[in-house]
Amino acid sequence: TDTRKLLVLPGDGIGPEVMREVAKVVTWLTAHRGLKLDIAEELVGGASLAKHGVPIRDEVIALAKEADAVLFGSVGDPAWSHVGFDKRPEVAILRLRQELELFANLRPAKVFDALLDASTLKPDVVRGLDIMIVRETVGGIYFGEPRGIETLPDGSRRGVNTEVYTTAEIERVARGAFDLARVRDNRVCSVEKCNVMESGLLWKQVVTDLHARDYADVELSHMLADNCAMQLVRNPRQFDVLVTGNLFGDLLSDLASMLTGSLGMLPSATLGAVQESGKRHALYEPIHGSAPDIAGQGIANPLAQILSFAMLLRYSFGREDDAVLIETAVSNVLASGFRTADIMSEGMARVSTAVMGDAVVQELRKLTD
Ligand code: NAD
Ligand code: IPM
Ligand code: MN
Repeated sequence: TDTRKLLVLPGDGIGPEVMREVAKVVTWLTAHRGLKLDIAEELVGGASLAKHGVPIRDEVIALAKEADAVLFGSVGDPAWSHVGFDKRPEVAILRLRQELELFANLRPAKVFDALLDASTLKPDVVRGLDIMIVRETVGGIYFGEPRGIETLPDGSRRGVNTEVYTTAEIERVARGAFDLARVRDNRVCSVEKCNVMESGLLWKQVVTDLHARDYADVELSHMLADNCAMQLVRNPRQFDVLVTGNLFGDLLSDLASMLTGSLGMLPSATLGAVQESGKRHALYEPIHGSAPDIAGQGIANPLAQILSFAMLLRYSFGREDDAVLIETAVSNVLASGFRTADIMSEGMARVSTAVMGDAVVQELRKLTD
């Protein structure tokens, strides 16, 4: 059958608000483009903690493994910010990444012409920007052992996290980056801090060896992470694909989002390895969080979530045409002047989350008339 299994996990804060706008797009594609979906929806994060006492239930992990793709909103709720680490909403996304072995998080930062004014950088610096950050997501300091908070004999405490990377972990994410570069501008910049960290030194060596062995046709450069943050602001268009570890990738992608105008614009895909069956676990989510500061007001930008669904259609469902259709609709809607508060500039029409979603669907209709 050509029916695909989709697991939808809206989560907390603005997660459910922006997911409602994706639902409109899904409904339209189902009615007009022959998309056939078997959709399940579950609670995760603070919403799951409130109802089930855990950030994500084992049943939901199992559903995610069975699904052809997972569409994730965002998790995080200040109400749970003082509980232990096993009871934090964020555990939901961390567990999903780990248990589905979603090691390559693709975070594209693309500038829509219509949003040149929304960026805090000069239009000349960001015009035409199209970079892809490949962030490692199941290793590094997020998961390394030992970790914890311990009380010392004198009563003071010590917080510990450990950055760990193995050859295999570095190689598989680097392969993903090189493969992507080949269908883009053929350039990879590998980012670490080999000047102070052994894990960074190993990272650089493994990427260099893999490049020489299997990817000599791709242009490879190396950059220290602090310099990379600076270069992303100074001249972001020098980059094509960036590949980096879990923590640096988290920071650099939030930074890159502002080049495009807003954190509310950036989608992502987190992919696992292709299995023997040909299947590949995949989860799609915006890079932003639950935005408690604006949750419940109906003003969040739904475009990152909608563009995440476009990535899902592209990478998991093989529906490139529909992915492009959605991306074109988003681009046209922005060109028509629709703006949520985060990308608002003078002379534009400030609209709510729901109106932005409606505008995208309206544009999908126009494009296929
Ligand atoms: P955040 O990304 O939620 O918000 C940062 C800022 O960007 C806020 O001012 C917010 O209003 C704005 N923003 C984010 N998305 C927006 C959108 N779609 N439209 C308009 N404005 C938007 O980061 P934070 O405030 O540091 O974290 C809030 C919570 O989210 C925390 O609990 C954090 O752990 C969690 N978080 C979750 C994910 C995830 O689920 N993948 C990602 C990042 C943060
Ligand atoms: C992200 C988020 C997560 C991360 C948190 C919520 C665990 O910031 O997806 O970028 O740090 O990976
Ligand atoms: Mn983040």
